[in-house]
Amino acid sequence: MTTTHDVGVIGGDGTGPEVVAEAMKVMRAAADRFGFAVRPHEFPLGGDHYLRTGELVPDAMFSEIKRLPATLLGAVGTPEVKPGILEKGVLLYLRFELDLYINLRPVKLYPGVPCPLREVHSDGIDFVVVRENTEGLYVGAGGFHKKGTPDEVAVQESINTRKGVDRTLRYAFEATRSRGKKKQLTLCGKTNVLTFAWDLWQRAFDEMGDAKYPDIRREYNHVDAITLYFVERPHTFDVIVTDNMFGDIITDLAAIIQGGLGVASGGNINPEGTAIFEPIGGSAPPWKGTGGINPIAAIGAMKMMLDHLGETEAGEAVERAMIRTIQTDMTGQAAGQMGITTTQVGDRVRDHLLAEGRA
Ligand code: IPM
Ligand code: MN
Repeated sequence: MTTTHDVGVIGGDGTGPEVVAEAMKVMRAAADRFGFAVRPHEFPLGGDHYLRTGELVPDAMFSEIKRLPATLLGAVGTPEVKPGILEKGVLLYLRFELDLYINLRPVKLYPGVPCPLREVHSDGIDFVVVRENTEGLYVGAGGFHKKGTPDEVAVQESINTRKGVDRTLRYAFEATRSRGKKKQLTLCGKTNVLTFAWDLWQRAFDEMGDAKYPDIRREYNHVDAITLYFVERPHTFDVIVTDNMFGDIITDLAAIIQGGLGVASGGNINPEGTAIFEPIGGSAPPWKGTGGINPIAAIGAMKMMLDHLGETEAGEAVERAMIRTIQTDMTGQAAGQMGITTTQVGDRVRDHLLAEGRA
């Protein structure tokens, strides 16, 4: 009997629908080659939907997304909607309400991808950032006092729970073990200044490591120092675990050293529930409809979705087809510099994927 994967598809705004269409094209080819079926469930979420209907995430859509094993999201955000509304009302809403407590960001410099670092060590760049995705500064705890007066006070608190920290660390330790590479997990924090939050993280990290993961080497870097090391010696990392805010910042730096937003993918995952995979680049409004946006990041997000669905063999084949396309068919990875169009990139990845299956 053929397995059918029901997956959510949120094209969203700007170039989101264009890149998601290419990713789904490749997913259908992977299904053909590896003998499973895909049943997409489309959700019209995002800025356009909000402007048309006033709805952010309607309850019925929320329940459907929750029920599905995984969803692929293009991008959410449009210049006509004030910053903050869609971020809070759609992206963060889904992360929090679906309890997608892991933000997983593989950082891999594929052969043939231009890297802004002048020298890249022969070991290349291949690490993973595990970012806590539902706590910290993102909780929205705090408030104003005497707003708009000269005595105004604004407080923004970072919330760190033992449960939230532990489940993130557990995922990171497990990921380090199953990657089977350097067996090294780096905690990225700020223990020298933020002495409450990072005291908790550090204690939880050491306790869990000692008790359950003696095979994993533990490292610690301050967040400021890690930005420096990303540039100086990115090849020395394996898995990095950090909180929500630091993870947000360091993964943008990580994206640029892996070749930029054209290639950077991520997943918002509840390991016991559903997950949302996305290219991290956003909706890129100026590129909408031009054929100049790079779908590789969306295809990479779909590859992560395949892994999540247990189709790891298909996922690996998709990654090889992406690398093939990057090396032989594309002149660059930035928008407008690919040498071929958005649709052609999708076609080439699909063709390489199918050709390898016939070889
Ligand atoms: C990300 C984004 C989001 C974040 C924004 C759009 C809310 O920057 O996924 O990294 O800050 O987490
Ligand atoms: Mn970010």
